[in-house]
Amino acid sequence: MPGRKVCLVLLAALVTSGAALPQSAIRYDAASRVWQLSAGEMTYEIGVNDQNGLQTMYWGPRLEGPSTLASAKSYPEAASFDASLSTTPLEYAAWGDGLPTQPALKISFPDGNRSLILDYLDSKQTDGPNGDRLEITLRDRLAEVYVHLFYKVYAPGILARWSQIENRTKAVITVEQAASATLNLPPSTSYELSSLSGRWGAEWQLQTVALVPGHNVLESRRGSTSHQSNPWLAIGRTGETTETAGPVWFGELGWSGSWQIDVEQTFSHRIKITGGYNTFDFSYPLAPGQLLNTPIFYVGYTSKGHGEASRILHHFQQQQILPGAPRPKPRPIIYNSWEATEFNVDEAGQLALAEKAASLGVERMVIDDGWFGQRATDHAGLGDWYVNQTKFPNGLKPVIDRVHQLGMDFGIWVEPEMINPDSDLYRKHPDWAMSFPGRPRTEARNQLVLNLARDDVKQFILSFLDKLVSENDIAFLKWDYNRNWSEPGWDAVPLPEQKEIYVRYIDNLYNVLAELRKRHPKLEIESCSGGGGRVDLGILRYTDEVWPSDNTDALDRLSIQDGFSHAYTPGVMVAWVTDVPNFLDRRNIPLQFRFTVAMTGALGIGSDVTKWTADESSLATRLLAFYKTIRSTVQQGALYRLVAPEANEQSALEYVAEDGHQAVLFAFLHSQHYGEPFQTVRAKGLEPAALYKVNPLDPAKATGLPQQMTGSELMGLGLSLHLIGDYDSTAIVFEKVERK
Ligand code: DGJ
Repeated sequence: MPGRKVCLVLLAALVTSGAALPQSAIRYDAASRVWQLSAGEMTYEIGVNDQNGLQTMYWGPRLEGPSTLASAKSYPEAASFDASLSTTPLEYAAWGDGLPTQPALKISFPDGNRSLILDYLDSKQTDGPNGDRLEITLRDRLAEVYVHLFYKVYAPGILARWSQIENRTKAVITVEQAASATLNLPPSTSYELSSLSGRWGAEWQLQTVALVPGHNVLESRRGSTSHQSNPWLAIGRTGETTETAGPVWFGELGWSGSWQIDVEQTFSHRIKITGGYNTFDFSYPLAPGQLLNTPIFYVGYTSKGHGEASRILHHFQQQQILPGAPRPKPRPIIYNSWEATEFNVDEAGQLALAEKAASLGVERMVIDDGWFGQRATDHAGLGDWYVNQTKFPNGLKPVIDRVHQLGMDFGIWVEPEMINPDSDLYRKHPDWAMSFPGRPRTEARNQLVLNLARDDVKQFILSFLDKLVSENDIAFLKWDYNRNWSEPGWDAVPLPEQKEIYVRYIDNLYNVLAELRKRHPKLEIESCSGGGGRVDLGILRYTDEVWPSDNTDALDRLSIQDGFSHAYTPGVMVAWVTDVPNFLDRRNIPLQFRFTVAMTGALGIGSDVTKWTADESSLATRLLAFYKTIRSTVQQGALYRLVAPEANEQSALEYVAEDGHQAVLFAFLHSQHYGEPFQTVRAKGLEPAALYKVNPLDPAKATGLPQQMTGSELMGLGLSLHLIGDYDSTAIVFEKVERK
């Protein structure tokens, strides 16, 4: 309605690092009752419709100026089988009134009623230094049940959504399903869904499928985020969306417990994305006056393809999510003992590794599993967090002191949420392990999961970690988690509350992490779960880095890390160089290739460095020194996936520093066929008119390249690199030359 008299409330915030970032804003048009939320290149619109329901109106490219949209209007019924409710894109539909599609909320009342109809009640807007926030309250047409929908927009182009269910009735009601949000896309038969799935040792496999009518359910029912599916999705349009172009609607959930994202194509080809708590086995009783909060669902939109969607997410994670945001500390180069020694850690062995690691340029020494309790193998010890006297007769102090003298800081492995039946802790508190009493109980890696929903377990974990970190100069914890839930029983509380375990466990996990960091502000933490089983935007609020996979084979890592990069910043992606033949597949990959692959994330070393030859050591020393010169560009810059590794014998990645002063390009050839020359690689994201000094890591692989090139030459002409044979790799740095 151009020219319509509008009353606009404009709340604008320039988030964090300033003027270069696009503004985020929430506008409300009181006449049409339409909210317009903009962030980065995205706009999201919602309105109150003629039925007093809250309706999604738009999610797509940024709309400038006042909204010209008329008020929301509910859709007519399609047939007697499809009433208006099933055709109208409701913003947060409860189950009731005959809703046949995926509900965001389902509640049962003590009188047997299970129907809920949410009407718009009111709204509240606030602006803040970290983004604008909108709260819209819905209320059941009859019962005093309220749903508060929260929206927050962030400048990098992210909308955060979550909900809060409030019981103001006089009786206990039971929440049987609760989503954070529903997102709607207009009808089309050409949507495709990308997601990340896998298993232990093979996480982060990128899948893309065409959407057809029905449900695609991405989920974990395992009590934690899972290796099998990660709470990330991207929707594109077939034939239009590529790495570098086309529309992408994307999102990820901030929850480290059982989660679900239901992607439904309705009979009319509308897409409905509903994400939040997993509905399987879910039940949460709400007493009068009680609230249930749902996880945060972060979503975004770009018209520039999957690469840009990732860059928006990476930037957002660095700016808003990670500890220390908007300036998370760069990741130090770690040495980790696991692949070198497994459980056979002891003072002499760890010191020998530390001495050698320090001489190469390593910055942090981490003792992995095996240092505590009676931990000779994975059969015993979890729960007994005292230093093993046989392995470390003088405690940890001499090792830590020496590590400090060597110029490194010290980290240690823990697995706080687990217990071996063969442990003193289990002998004392057998009831702390999750189980269904009287039923068989499943052990995995000979261990059980402690029920962290219990306050006594929470106190135990917090106090042993606090003691460990207080009594030893520990800069870093590698927090591991090596199995899924199997029997999620909690018989210490009354029956209706037992399923609260799905929520309370994770809330307590976050509380312990937050409290530990509060008590030890310099402490850094890695989230590891037998590899990449616990990586999500919930845990990343409390952890500085993650271990993406136990698979350290450099060839597999190319694809694993590529998949990872679709959802998470390389700045948290720990990547070790390990020994060959690789423990998993016996593959023999040359050291430089292993290093180059690991340098595309947060570099670490997991080899038995005491066995490295003089040549290997000097190569490693050179590459560590090189990595330090590009670290902030790799960890905090903008990533361009130039040539994806899947289905290609060559691949290439490029990272451009936030301020544009440096870029680094990595190129990999894993197998050469027919002597084909390495194909020209073209850079991206540079300033076309700027001049760059071209600094190859291996001049012999970059012969013929001019010493200086303009951005347009690097991006247009590209680079001819001399990579040959199997497992050849290199890196080239572009340093911007300031012209007088
Ligand atoms: C699984 C982790 O992913 C490994 O890196 C290592 O820490 C082992 N657990 C130790 O048990």
